[in-house]
Amino acid sequence: MLQADKKICTDIDTEGCHGAASAPIYQTSLFTFNTFRDFTEAQKKERERYVYTRGVNPTVNLLENKLAALERGEQCKCFGSGMGAVSSIFLSLLNSNDHVLFVNNIYGPTTELMEVLQNFNISCDYVSHDVEQIEASIQPNTKLIYAESPGTMLMKVVDLKKTAEIAKKHNITTVIDNTWSTPLFQKPLRLGFDLSLHSLTKYIGGHSDVIGGAVIGRADLVDRIFKYGFQLGGSVLSPHDAFLILRGLRTLPVRLAQHQANVLKIIDYLQTKKAVKQIYHPKLWQNPAIARQMLGYTGLISFELKDTSFETLTKFIDSLVLFKIGVSWGGFESLVTSPQKEGNEEQLKAAGLPSGLIRLSIGLEGDELQISDLEKAFSTIS
Ligand SMILES: Cc1ncc(COP(=O)(O)O)c(C=O)c1O
Repeated sequence: MLQADKKICTDIDTEGCHGAASAPIYQTSLFTFNTFRDFTEAQKKERERYVYTRGVNPTVNLLENKLAALERGEQCKCFGSGMGAVSSIFLSLLNSNDHVLFVNNIYGPTTELMEVLQNFNISCDYVSHDVEQIEASIQPNTKLIYAESPGTMLMKVVDLKKTAEIAKKHNITTVIDNTWSTPLFQKPLRLGFDLSLHSLTKYIGGHSDVIGGAVIGRADLVDRIFKYGFQLGGSVLSPHDAFLILRGLRTLPVRLAQHQANVLKIIDYLQTKKAVKQIYHPKLWQNPAIARQMLGYTGLISFELKDTSFETLTKFIDSLVLFKIGVSWGGFESLVTSPQKEGNEEQLKAAGLPSGLIRLSIGLEGDELQISDLEKAFSTIS
């Protein structure tokens, strides 16, 4: 983790705010003006001046500036959710007859959104994390290469530099969902990606109490996304939620260091379990891109049970006490989930996921408590 990033996360510039120690919350929908001329001048620059919070707002702006600085991007726009960021990118950058190439396992709702876009004559293909497949899958109308790395089910890693080089050669815009790593552990824009997006709901917010999203990258692209996807799509991050995310950001460096320490212990532990067929985490991959592009590991990890029956999976999950059953990840509390449902093995296969897969979000309770909870659950199935 870079020292400069720790400073960006923790500093709050409250000049002119009476020395406030935390970010002021501008909980206002609109901003007023002394003269009508001032108002009309501000309206001409709605993406820079404070006019309406479905535009720019000082609290949200503070967060946007920090995220842009952390990701080394020219500009950032925040949204009311990660999906708000994803849909705004598609709405702003795609036209009918365009083609999107998805790389690696992609977050389910993103692929569902793509199904809707097919009604508007936008097509897509999916390729694995293997970079060799990318160039071969590019179509004359490929407009966007959209990657997730690491993916958030099997945690496979895409070579981001090579992907960006291929895209540049074919004049294709590149987007990465960088939620798994956060900008502290991966900076895809420095490797040639045009845009990086985040679900701020996960590690950046960090406390499972807020939903938000962000897009960071080339100023011309973010400006277009701001104008179309954000202002017209309307997925606004509330100033109060921006405050909560700024508060989360202050502890992101220490939280990530702890998530990493805990997950490494959990990997060592899972490696001793006979009931486990395979563990999925970037720490375990022999992929040379990892050393080039990742600065650390977060706590989202999966493993596959040898016994893939739904009954065994259910027994294991229901035996956990510390790990709560639930969606999402990246917060204080350890969570467990699985993509498996009774009788959906074929669907899982089609999505490239094995049966018996369990995903853990390793929280901050401490590795001893986490391991003892897992140990009890393993004892029920062996
Ligand atoms: C990898 C990834 N991207 C995007 C999203 C969407 O974010 P949100 O739930 O904030 O809309 C999620 C949510 O789980 C996610 O896991």
